Amino acid sequence: MLLEGQKQKALNINWNQPSLNSIAPKTLDLIIVGCGTIGGALIKQINEQQKILAARNLPINVLGIANQKGILLDPAGVDLSCWQENIKNVKGRYNLAELSHLVKRNNIANPVIVDCTGSREFSLTYPDILEHGFNIVTANKIANGEPIAFYKKIRQLAEANNKRFLYETNIGAGLPVIDPFKKLILAGDKLNRFEGILSGSLSYIFGEIHKGKTISEATISARELGFTEPDPRDDLSGMDVARKVLIIAREAGLEIELTDINVEPILPEEFNRFTTTEEFLTALSDLDTAFSVKVADAEKEGAVLRYVATIEKDQCRVAVEKISSDNPLHEIDGGENILAFYTRYYDPKPLLTRGYGAGPDVTAAGVFGDILRLVN
Ligand SMILES: NC(=O)c1ccc[n+]([C@@H]2O[C@H](COP(=O)([O-])OP(=O)(O)OC[C@H]3O[C@@H](n4cnc5c(N)ncnc54)[C@H](OP(=O)(O)O)[C@@H]3O)[C@@H](O)[C@H]2O)c1
Repeated sequence: MLLEGQKQKALNINWNQPSLNSIAPKTLDLIIVGCGTIGGALIKQINEQQKILAARNLPINVLGIANQKGILLDPAGVDLSCWQENIKNVKGRYNLAELSHLVKRNNIANPVIVDCTGSREFSLTYPDILEHGFNIVTANKIANGEPIAFYKKIRQLAEANNKRFLYETNIGAGLPVIDPFKKLILAGDKLNRFEGILSGSLSYIFGEIHKGKTISEATISARELGFTEPDPRDDLSGMDVARKVLIIAREAGLEIELTDINVEPILPEEFNRFTTTEEFLTALSDLDTAFSVKVADAEKEGAVLRYVATIEKDQCRVAVEKISSDNPLHEIDGGENILAFYTRYYDPKPLLTRGYGAGPDVTAAGVFGDILRLVN
């Protein structure tokens, strides 16, 4: 039976609009470093959601927006409707010590650095950022692919300073991968085998070569659609996929380095000799015939070629694989990613996660999700 006061409280609950944080509003103060494709999409999403979240007891304040040229700062909140114009006129640059003073002067309790750069230099400053009392949310996967000593240092410093380090978008962009996998491992699950297609650009290219395009046509078209890096060799080298599988392997408890991964690049070594992207793209057609033969061979067996990351028996491999029609990776193309976790609990059928693994909106939403996890 409810007492009078309890009854009143029970009646006040609005089940349709539950507060995500019903105890006390805890403003998140963000400094968004990197405002290109992902950072820009994130700022747009925050601008759209800010009022809705504040009404649900989740106030978000964008304290600063930085790029390589400068930082736009306002402790009361940067005006997100005209930041693109305003950032052009700023004088100051990103400076961690100054930001730290600003945070202290303004009694900011919950400061967060949101890394939307692709910069290694910036990611190497994470230990400093944590020691200055900031949480980190990052779309940038470089830190997690650094030597294991650095990888552990970030985690130790986050714990020692009672701060969070969140990086859900490092794999599969907005797809829920890292956090659910971490929880499974904590619940006693064990990874037996992993297979995945972890690159949106390579998912597109390998899909297209089975729809009649040559490897050079598929690569040029992926580049034109904005799926690849400006120089597609960065995608075709396999190193981006290697970094991602390394992150999964480390989450599974393997203490391995990037150099331990067996990476089979899609291109022969000699393609690195071209200095310009245009020279490289012209030369790429030399591979068309050999690739078309491999495609036809796979199809004769009812299989397809896919660029696959594998973890098996504590070893990681990244390579072009022939995938048979009964494998969940078979139907993945058009930029989709898939991750198949074969584990102690998910056996014999794997835990599957699939969906678009790149793109501004899904990635920014994944970063936004990490930001909200800081108070939820
Ligand atoms: N694109 C995707 O679908 C996707 C998916 C998952 C993860 N990601 C990751 O998200 C990150 C951002 O990607 P993006 O596509 O948005 O890149 P982008 O469009 O090239 O934007 C990069 C931004 O970072 C800024 N920047 C670079 N180095 C900096 C530094 N040292 N200090 C301050 N600002 C710096 C750049 O400033 P300037 O303009 O002044 O150079 C620019 O504003 C990358 O790590 C990428 O791997 C991207």
